[in-house]
Amino acid sequence: MAGIELRNISKVYGNAVLAVDDVSLEIKDGEFMIFLGPSGCGKSTTLRMIGGLESISKGDLLIGGKRMNDVDPADRDIAIVFQNYALYPHMTVAGNLGFGLKLRGFDRAEIDRRIRAISDMLGIQPLLDRKPGQLSGGQRQRVALGRALVREPKAFLLDEPLSNLDAKLRAAMRTELIKLHHKVGTTIVHVTHDQIEAMTMGQRICIMKDGRIVQVGAPLEVYRNPVNTFVAGFLASPPMNLVAGRLEGEGQGTLKAVVGAASLPIPDAFRAAYAARSGSEVIVGLRPEDFHQSPMGDRSSPASVVVVAVELLGPEVILVAELGGTGGPEIMARMPRDFMARPGAMLQLHYDLTQMHLFDAASGTALSRPQLA
Ligand SMILES: Nc1ncnc2c1ncn2[C@@H]1O[C@H](COP(=O)(O)OP(=O)(O)O)[C@@H](O)[C@H]1O
Ligand SMILES: [Mg+2]
Repeated sequence: MAGIELRNISKVYGNAVLAVDDVSLEIKDGEFMIFLGPSGCGKSTTLRMIGGLESISKGDLLIGGKRMNDVDPADRDIAIVFQNYALYPHMTVAGNLGFGLKLRGFDRAEIDRRIRAISDMLGIQPLLDRKPGQLSGGQRQRVALGRALVREPKAFLLDEPLSNLDAKLRAAMRTELIKLHHKVGTTIVHVTHDQIEAMTMGQRICIMKDGRIVQVGAPLEVYRNPVNTFVAGFLASPPMNLVAGRLEGEGQGTLKAVVGAASLPIPDAFRAAYAARSGSEVIVGLRPEDFHQSPMGDRSSPASVVVVAVELLGPEVILVAELGGTGGPEIMARMPRDFMARPGAMLQLHYDLTQMHLFDAASGTALSRPQLA
């Protein structure tokens, strides 16, 4: 097992494409780390540099404290699983699992022992004599994982290994991977563009954009304290509502965020932090889950909305509405499953003010304030 450290790593493809731009990150020994970001942001390139499949243009890569920039991929003791896991079609599952070990000169008894242990863990014992063509997508994916696991590497690098699976299987495999990490405790770096995978699987999420790291933190930390509108709008589904507004003070110690016709008082705890911004344009971030049907004492402020649409999801209802009245900014609110309303109706909701986020209107950077626990 080993920690992985990236020190000011960059990758330039050819002479022009800066795919990864000065990335520094410490992945702890045994940590489950997620790389999350939109397509093209440099996740795979970063992973491939860790695995040695791509040269490092600048910076240092350390694995287990040793510089690895020039070490052959085969000698890094790291297993990589890709989205397009290619199994050897002419070999049985057992053959696929044991092949890498055979190449490395392991004896038959040890190979058999490891194949048995891994196939037990992954529930693929009954499939050992089948060929890949006789397996479902999920079974094939499990075999691909198994093939990486039998090597007992220092770390696993997973590049969107679940994205080819259907929704149900993906959810099942998410759980499998979490359980697996509990069992083997090996460092895992998991690349995904799926924010649900990121929130549910990782101990920490590293969010990337345009080749750079935007924010690193535990899932809930990032969810509660996004550093900018990019992160705020990327995590969670539906994501945070981001609406243009203005911070206004009304004399003695009061401050409010004005969004269209709606006015949301700034809670006492945040007032000092925001006071200097009074009078400036801001982006107000309101999570859909922070709109409620009943007041929450001092914490909430009434917010009138006009219903645009109601989406029934089963476990919950997504309300699309105009905040403050007709023509106001459109927001989404998460309502309980029995919520009903007719388009055009005016409703009074209650917004939990302690959850409000403010961002600089020009840069999108979060205005700093006391962190929510
Ligand atoms: N082999 C390559 N040659 C040139 N450009 C590449 C190559 N691989 C990736 N890129 C570019 O590098 C950037 C990052 O790509 P990638 O790491 O694959 O992103 P992600 O995995 O986040 O989708 C993209 O702009 C992509 O087009
Ligand atoms: Mg990729």
